[in-house]
Amino acid sequence: SATIVARAPGKLFVAGEYAVVTPGEPAVLVAVDRFLTVSLTETTGAGGIHSPESARPSLRWTRDAGGLVVAPEDHSYDYVLSALTVIERLRAERGIAPRLYDLTIDSGLDDASGRKFGLGSSAAVTVATIRAIDRFYRLALDRRTLYQLALLATIRIAPSASGGDLAASTFGGWIGYRSPDREMLRRLLDAGDAVASVLESDAWEHLEIVRLRPPRDLGFFVGWTGEPASTVRLVDAVGRGAAVGAVDHAGFLRDSRACVTDLWAALDAGDDAATLDALRRARGLLQALGAQAGLAIETPRLAALCDAAETAGAAAKSSGAGGGDCGIVLAPASADVRGMLDAWEAQDIRRLTIAVHPPEGGD
Ligand code: MEV
Repeated sequence: SATIVARAPGKLFVAGEYAVVTPGEPAVLVAVDRFLTVSLTETTGAGGIHSPESARPSLRWTRDAGGLVVAPEDHSYDYVLSALTVIERLRAERGIAPRLYDLTIDSGLDDASGRKFGLGSSAAVTVATIRAIDRFYRLALDRRTLYQLALLATIRIAPSASGGDLAASTFGGWIGYRSPDREMLRRLLDAGDAVASVLESDAWEHLEIVRLRPPRDLGFFVGWTGEPASTVRLVDAVGRGAAVGAVDHAGFLRDSRACVTDLWAALDAGDDAATLDALRRARGLLQALGAQAGLAIETPRLAALCDAAETAGAAAKSSGAGGGDCGIVLAPASADVRGMLDAWEAQDIRRLTIAVHPPEGGD
């Protein structure tokens, strides 16, 4: 049978990092035009997962008597296997017969030597896997349901992840996001509730995914520090800081909510000056959070990246958990972009030539 090729874009956080981990708190993200591709081919005997471009080993999986996926304990493909498990559960609930297939993963979200840019490769592989299997079984799931399944798959692996990256990867474009109650979702999943009923539960009450207008006339630039960051480690450290009172978490959430709400409104109104202002405030909030938690959310390289942008008359901040990875820049027409890029080059900060991946059509 023919190979199904499904892809999902990477993403960058624009604002609301850390706060968005709390259900109901807003963030802004953009999808970018770098993609992760999952190719699915039907097989007999056993299925497999391969990643030819990387050092990861291939993995074989089979099915148990009930048609569920059985795979060896192997963490190379946690997200793929979790995505597979969740959508296969839904397939079984619908009374569709199980089949076997090979998945081949091709990531455009790493550099040539396999180092991650921090563009959300875990999210993209989860979304692309679910898309491929949805098409294979002709489940005809709508976009929101694909996102929901991707979130259920993700919280089995990374309970603290907000899922904002999944929303950006599923919907494309600029999006505003508020997370649902993932603790409740996890409890329902662990209790063995049908996936179809978990999809309808009250836990989604706070979920919001809105398409935002792109800034009217601002250039979008991304710099890569080359420093690999560990989101889980940073998110846990901020959580510990909040637990011992070093971090004023309530204050941070309040300030972040105000900043992101303003950004959201500025984008909607096409007010570029207010967009730049909100981005600068978002940078300051993350710097202050890092200082309280004793963490380099904005590392010296990220600071250099952002300072060069500010000097050039643009606005910039670390994107995502920080600690390395990327910084994003929004530049008005008046900004000295050449000067900024020269300063980056002099400090060995690599510009990633990526653009926003536009909103994907349909619901
Ligand atoms: C990391 O990319 C962004 C955080 O807000 C974590 C998350 O949203 O899952 C720090």
